[in-house]
This record gives sequence, structure tokens and C-alpha cells, in this order.
Amino acid sequence: MAFIKHYFLLLVIFSLSLNVYGKLSTNFYSSTCPNVLNIIKEGVDEAIKKETRVGGSILRLHFHDCFVNGCDGSILLDNTSTFQSEKTAAPNNNSARGFEAVDLIKAKVEKACPGIVSCADILAIIARDAVVYYGGPTWKVRLGRRDSLKANRSAANAFLPGPSFDLNNLTTNFANVGLSFRDLIVLSGAHTIGVARCATYRAHIYNDNNIDPAFAKSLQQTCPRNTGNNNTLQPLDYQTNFRFDEKYYQNLIAKKGLLHSDQVLYNGNQRADYDVKKYANDQCKFFKAFAKSMVRMGNIKPLTGTDGEIRLNCRKPN
Ligand code: HEM
Ligand SMILES: *[C@@H]1O[C@H](CO)[C@@H](O)[C@H](O)[C@H]1NC(C)=O
Ligand SMILES: *[C@@H]1O[C@H](CO)[C@@H](O)[C@H](O)[C@H]1NC(C)=O
Ligand SMILES: *[C@@H]1O[C@H](CO)[C@@H](O)[C@H](O)[C@H]1NC(C)=O
Ligand SMILES: *[C@@H]1O[C@H](CO)[C@@H](O)[C@H](O)[C@H]1NC(C)=O
Ligand SMILES: *[C@@H]1O[C@H](CO)[C@@H](O)[C@H](O)[C@H]1NC(C)=O
Repeated sequence: MAFIKHYFLLLVIFSLSLNVYGKLSTNFYSSTCPNVLNIIKEGVDEAIKKETRVGGSILRLHFHDCFVNGCDGSILLDNTSTFQSEKTAAPNNNSARGFEAVDLIKAKVEKACPGIVSCADILAIIARDAVVYYGGPTWKVRLGRRDSLKANRSAANAFLPGPSFDLNNLTTNFANVGLSFRDLIVLSGAHTIGVARCATYRAHIYNDNNIDPAFAKSLQQTCPRNTGNNNTLQPLDYQTNFRFDEKYYQNLIAKKGLLHSDQVLYNGNQRADYDVKKYANDQCKFFKAFAKSMVRMGNIKPLTGTDGEIRLNCRKPN
């Protein structure tokens, strides 16, 4: 009994010290909202059963949240009289989606634990649960992020990478938020699920040489050279669109990446090519690396302690 008590005390001290230093912890809600992980998992499963694509969309929201002033839920905010939503920044406009699914999950969480769980943490948990749903790896999500009081549309334009980026542009873009070259190769593997619009892969299928000609030709059938059909969707992984696996990397080796920014990861750079081959040949290595890099992405500049707030409605500050 005394042993258990001491052990418990140590745990409490340990988790307090983590919070004091502004770090996140896996047990952040264990006393304030003990069921939060189950509630969110159920919500994610339900959302994806209703619309197969939405898990990819909400995984992408966590990425687009973290790259713009840290993982602070800023991407979820709508326009107000004092700031412009990030939702209409170029990389998000007519593209970022899944906001209704996030609203539904947030409402369930609020019902169980009013005012406790941040929107930023909900995005981090959702991202993990979506990856698991499609057959990918799992990991322990670190929690304790708080929500921003504002959004910044120009920051979203400045910090989110685009499909026309070359390898050096992507590397710089990830370095700007403290992520490594390895993180870039690994996290791009998220494109094993989800779809992209003609507007984002048009340049690659008409202007680039590092694409399989037959693959390019087949995509050109529904994505005309000049304009029009901008919203025609194609899978980012043409082999197994809604299966989280290593086929994305195999596609790159076959020159069948959909985006310019995908194919530049396998285009003669020795370090990048080496990693792409490694993950193409070993799903287990990809999964381990992906879980690790997702935790690193989730750690980008969180608001903690008394900074920011716990939003009641993810779309607007309290
Ligand atoms: C490396 C730089 C990246 C670039 C340039 C990039 C770019 C894009 C583009 C252009 C699309 C299609 C958007 C559209 O046509 O509407 C897309 C979709 C997607 N991206 Fe990325 N992305 C990158 C990294 C990531 C990362 C790190 C993740 C997550 C960890 C991610 C997850 C996704 C997902 C899941 C989709 C599909 C979304 C859906 O179907 O709704 N991407 N990305
Ligand atoms: C938010 O503001 C932007 C820029 O002013 C505008 O383009 C967009 O339509 C607005 N969005 C909504 C949902 O009102
Ligand atoms: C977003 O897209 C809509 C519809 O295509 C367009 O009318 C609007 O101008 C775009 N907003 C911004 C800020 O570019
Ligand atoms: C928004 O982001 C831009 C680009 O990073 C920055 O220059 C600007 O100061 C930010 N605005 C606010 C109000 O934080
Ligand atoms: C991409 O890199 C090139 C060459 O280093 C540079 O000139 C260009 O400004 C970069 N573009 C972006 C969007 O960062
Ligand atoms: C369609 O996408 C292209 C880029 O591929 C862009 O230049 C054009 O403005 C878009 N057209 C419309 C109507 O949004």
C-alpha cells in the first residue's frame, strides 16, 4: 500500500513537473476527462463510416494547424471582425475540409467534459485515430495544448507548403517549424490516403519529366491542360487510396507520385532516395518513423499553462 502511494506521488510530481515546463503529456486529461479518447475515437469512426474520405481531410487539418503558429487550433477559426480565417488562405481555400466532423466530435466532448478539452488537442487525437482507422500505426498522443485567440491568414499563406515546391523549398519549409529532412520524407507518407484536385497536380502531369508517361496521360484525360475541371479528384496513392500503407513510396519509385511535391522526394537526391526506398520496402520501418514524426509535428509551439484558452466552439474565440 505504502509502495503504491509513493508510486502515485511520484507520478503526480512527474506529471506536474512536465506541465510546469510547458510540455505536453499523454495523461493530461486522465482526471479531468477520463473518457475523452474513447469519445473521440467513436466520433472519428462514425465520421469515416459516413464519408470514407473525411479521415484524410481531418489528418490534414492537424498538419495545417501545426505549421501556422503552432498546434493551437487556429485553422478551425472562422472570420471575425478582427482577423481573417486561415480557411481562405491559398493552400486551404476550397481544399481544407472536415470542419463539420470536428464540430460534431467537439460537441460530444463538450457534453461529457464542458470547457476542458482544447480544439488543438482534439485535432491531434483525431489525426491519430484516422491513421489507425485506415490501417496505419498508432502512437500515444501528447496532450495539454490550448487554443489560440486568433487566426492569421497571411501566416497560413507564408508557412504552408505548396504542391509546386521543390525539395529545397520543402526542406526549408519544414525546418522553419523545427522539423527535419527525415520528418519531411516520413510525413509526406500521409499521402498514402486522400485525394487532390486537378488544380494542384495539373502542372506536374503536363510540365514535368519525372513522371511515368502512361500515368501522366491517364490523368490528363480528366484534367485539361489550360483550365477547367479544377476540382476533378484523383487519389494521392493510386494503388490503395484509403489504405494507410507504404505504397505511396513504391509509387514514387515508379514515377507515379501525383503531386510535383511528392515526386521531388524521389528525383536523384541521395538521402531522399535512400529513405524513400527504405520505406517502400519496409512498411514496419515507415510506420515506426511516421508515429515518431507525428509526435514531433504535434509538439510544434503549443500554447500551454494559462496561454490561450479552451474554446467552447472550435470556430470562434470564447
Ligand atoms: C510536404 C509538403 C506537403 C504538401 C506540399 C502537401 C500538399 C497537398 C495538396 C496540394 C493536397 C491536395 C489538396 C487539394 O487538392 O485540395 C494535399 C492533400 C492531403 N495532404 Fe498534403 N501536403 C504536404 C504534406 C502533408 C502532411 C505532412 C500531411 C499529414 C501529416 C498531409 C496530409 C494530406 C492528406 C491526408 C491529404 C488529402 C486530404 C483530403 O483528401 O481531403 N500532407 N496535400
Ligand atoms: C472570410 O474573409 C475572406 C477574406 O476577407 C473572404 O474571402 C471569405 O469569403 C470570408 N469567409 C467567410 C466564410 O465569410
Ligand atoms: C476562395 O475561393 C473562392 C471560390 O473559388 C473565391 O471566390 C475566393 O476569392 C477565394 N478566396 C481567397 C481569399 O482567395
Ligand atoms: C500574421 O502573420 C504574418 C506573416 O507571418 C506576420 O507578418 C504578421 O505579423 C502576423 N499578424 C499578426 C496579427 O500576428
Ligand atoms: C524555392 O527555392 C528557390 C531556389 O532556392 C527560391 O528561389 C524560391 O523562392 C523558393 N520558393 C519558395 C516558394 O519558397
Ligand atoms: C484552376 O487552377 C489553375 C491552376 O492549375 C489556376 O491557375 C486557375 O486560376 C484555376 N481556375 C479557377 C477557375 O479557379
